[in-house]
Amino acid sequence: MDICVIGAGYVGLVTSACLAYLGNHVTAVEASSERLGSLKKGIVPFFEPGLQEFVKETIESGFLTFTDSLEGAVKKADVIFIAVGTPSLPNGEPDLSQVMVVARAIGGALDGSKRRIIVNKSTVPVGSGNWVEMLVSQGVQNAQPVPARSARPESPSFTVVSNPEFLREGSAITDSFYPDRIVVGASDDNAVDVMKNLYKPIINQTFEPPSFAPRPAAFQTVPFVVTDLASAELIKYSANAFLAMKISFANEIAGLCEKVGADVRQVAQGIGLDYRIGKAFLNAGVGWGGSCFGKDVSALMQVAKEYSYPTSLLEATVSVNERQRLVVIKKLQEELKILKGRTVGLLGLSFKPDTDDLRDAPAITIAYQLLKMGASVKAFDPVANERCEQLHPNLEITYCDSALTLAQDCDAVVLVTEWALFRNLDWKGLSKVMRWPLVIDGRNVLSEQDVVDAGMTYRGIGH
Ligand SMILES: NC(=O)c1ccc[n+]([C@@H]2O[C@H](COP(=O)([O-])OP(=O)(O)OC[C@H]3O[C@@H](n4cnc5c(N)ncnc54)[C@H](O)[C@@H]3O)[C@@H](O)[C@H]2O)c1
Repeated sequence: MDICVIGAGYVGLVTSACLAYLGNHVTAVEASSERLGSLKKGIVPFFEPGLQEFVKETIESGFLTFTDSLEGAVKKADVIFIAVGTPSLPNGEPDLSQVMVVARAIGGALDGSKRRIIVNKSTVPVGSGNWVEMLVSQGVQNAQPVPARSARPESPSFTVVSNPEFLREGSAITDSFYPDRIVVGASDDNAVDVMKNLYKPIINQTFEPPSFAPRPAAFQTVPFVVTDLASAELIKYSANAFLAMKISFANEIAGLCEKVGADVRQVAQGIGLDYRIGKAFLNAGVGWGGSCFGKDVSALMQVAKEYSYPTSLLEATVSVNERQRLVVIKKLQEELKILKGRTVGLLGLSFKPDTDDLRDAPAITIAYQLLKMGASVKAFDPVANERCEQLHPNLEITYCDSALTLAQDCDAVVLVTEWALFRNLDWKGLSKVMRWPLVIDGRNVLSEQDVVDAGMTYRGIGH
């Protein structure tokens, strides 16, 4: 099939490369000239494991190309994906301006040569499918000259479907090839058939796995879930809200564990083995962040507000998370008493390991709070230092290129992002160069024994 993907960010680029790998001709449209320039040279402008090689390979196969010409790409395409950003506005509502611009531009570029399917992959509020359809129609009308009766061209025919994306940064390629489910919301049976056909190699797992994304053992077929448009849109928001709520739940219990002398890691294991609860997303720590959870939970609350519908669980999910980010500050104060004049080293900046994404990253909140309290902040992230410096020029952090240089003259080291390389650090070596041997394990992933054996004080979360 001929596919056009508009927006070559985390979602759009991974989608483009995967569909190209499956033998579709994919044109990815990117508005940022800097991003487009890199992509045309085969350079992925952000960090996602395996994506650099994968994109290069699919470009070389001839199935993936990049352009800034939305019009040209739309005209060729059978299926057009919208994968632009929908960040939060200050009031919590999603900023849909990128979707709006793209939907109108698609309408302006459509011709009557074939029926197109416009797929909304961006995470958008309930009702956006119909809104996008209206915007595309407006684009069509604005672009169509009033024709002479005799020469009336075929008017463009299209349908809008919702296909929410569930990939996780850090494992985006694997998640795309081996998803838990594919959801398509549509009101048009023919569009559902086309989408099912497009995803058939993934649904039936008939493709040859790429070397860097092997098929998990015993992985078989993928459920293809067909819903109405509004339900598909709500599935995406609800899934993220539920995951965020699970983490906040674990964090609330972690606080209680500290009061009563229990260990949240043991509690999480004990409850997670119940199949109705499940083990995932029960890790206590500095809380959730990233480009999706915060904005999607706020957007869901905003939708509910429009209908005067109370969302107490969602509100609690957010407030527990806000409190949780500052739990490490409280622990630092308990150990060091006054933070003014102290130096604190942050291990990790990205919102989770295996990505350089800093959107809503707990490390940024913690760093700002420490600076506000008069502490000096050092940080070492294996991939996100440079991006942090660019995105937060006012954040007065000393960036370090190893755990050892980070630890030098620190009064405490705080593990914020659980990168694998932080799990087995040479604590004895770090202890020697620190001013005060304190380690706060903000993700409960370190060996307490190793840290204590190095003569250091260890503080975890909820135990
Ligand atoms: N990042 C994730 O893990 C993730 C997971 C699931 C869903 N989502 C959702 O997917 C959507 C995209 O997220 P993302 O993280 O890929 O965002 P992103 O900001 O990384 O990428 C969006 C891209 O769209 C480009 N763009 C904006 N306007 C454009 C236009 N008019 N024409 C062409 N390109 C344009 C931007 O330059 C950018 O490269 C969001 O709605 C997000 O909520 C993201």
